[in-house]
Amino acid sequence: MKEKLQQIRERAIAEIQNSDGLEKLGEVRNTILGKKGELTAVLKGMKDVPPEERPKVGQWVNETREAIESILAEQTKKLEAEALRLRYEAEKIDVTMPAVKPAKGNLHPITQVRNQLTDIFASMGFEIYEGTEIETDYYNFTALNTPQDHPARDMQDTFYLSPEFLLRTQTSAGQIHVMEAKKPPIKIISPGKVFRSDDDATHSPMFTQMEGLVVDKGITLCDLKGMLDEFVKKIFGKNVTTRLRPSYFPFTEPSVEVDVSCFQCGGKGCKLCKGTGWIEVLGAGVVNNKVLEGCGVDTDVYSGFAFGIGIERIAMLKYGINNIKLLFESDLRVLNQIDD
Ligand code: PHE
Repeated sequence: MKEKLQQIRERAIAEIQNSDGLEKLGEVRNTILGKKGELTAVLKGMKDVPPEERPKVGQWVNETREAIESILAEQTKKLEAEALRLRYEAEKIDVTMPAVKPAKGNLHPITQVRNQLTDIFASMGFEIYEGTEIETDYYNFTALNTPQDHPARDMQDTFYLSPEFLLRTQTSAGQIHVMEAKKPPIKIISPGKVFRSDDDATHSPMFTQMEGLVVDKGITLCDLKGMLDEFVKKIFGKNVTTRLRPSYFPFTEPSVEVDVSCFQCGGKGCKLCKGTGWIEVLGAGVVNNKVLEGCGVDTDVYSGFAFGIGIERIAMLKYGINNIKLLFESDLRVLNQIDD
């Protein structure tokens, strides 16, 4: 009997130790300790053992059972720990990994810059006038002191729709509409698309301008300069200043080109400003009396200034874009990078 128990014990221990999963361990437990298990069978056979030997045999059986159960418990613990370790391994989360960015749309760079400019001018008290993209020759040229055979028409290659109608070449056309509709004081900006037959790395047949017009008593070039200084600080940074260079537009007199001190090198000279320290950003001037008179404004009382900003140009400068086409090709790799 003792030998048999010894055999059961050794085999059980070997099987338990060889079990490599909790399920297998359960099976082993059943074949030994279960209802039909080997050790249970021995217990059932106790009735055939002579009564005087029963206490001794009972003790052996109990010892065997305890030994097997303690090994079982030990192995169960080991396998449970291993199962937990494997689960932790499988479910491991690296909390230092960068989060997945949710896909999100953003405004087109031109819209972003247009909104920024609109906000700046609105904060200075400008109203917004939006004109139409199809204009008459009169509003786009003649009323802006550029009659039919004026050489300044060559400055802008125009898309004519008919001898009378055209795609506006400049938002300046809006100046006339506003002055016809409203008495001074006038303080408006007019953003919108304009069209010229022009196509290279910095010019596109369709682009966006923002016109500005101020007409009031005692307006001078100094008011223009003061306002522009304020404006460029807000759009390019507080250390940026402006300088005016003489220029020519038929509808302003005097006319100026406005440069800003290079916001990248601070004026020392770099690639962006082509070594000059200055970057040309817009055209402007004091409104030509002929234009004011044509709109019925009394030039003995009122004067004004006007300016025209190329929005693509500002966007290209701000975001370091060297080809205007990148703004119109709808390449998401480019557009996704620009979100102010
Ligand atoms: N309309 C001019 C252009 O497109 C810019 C401008 C606007 C100049 C207002 C002076 C005053 O080139």
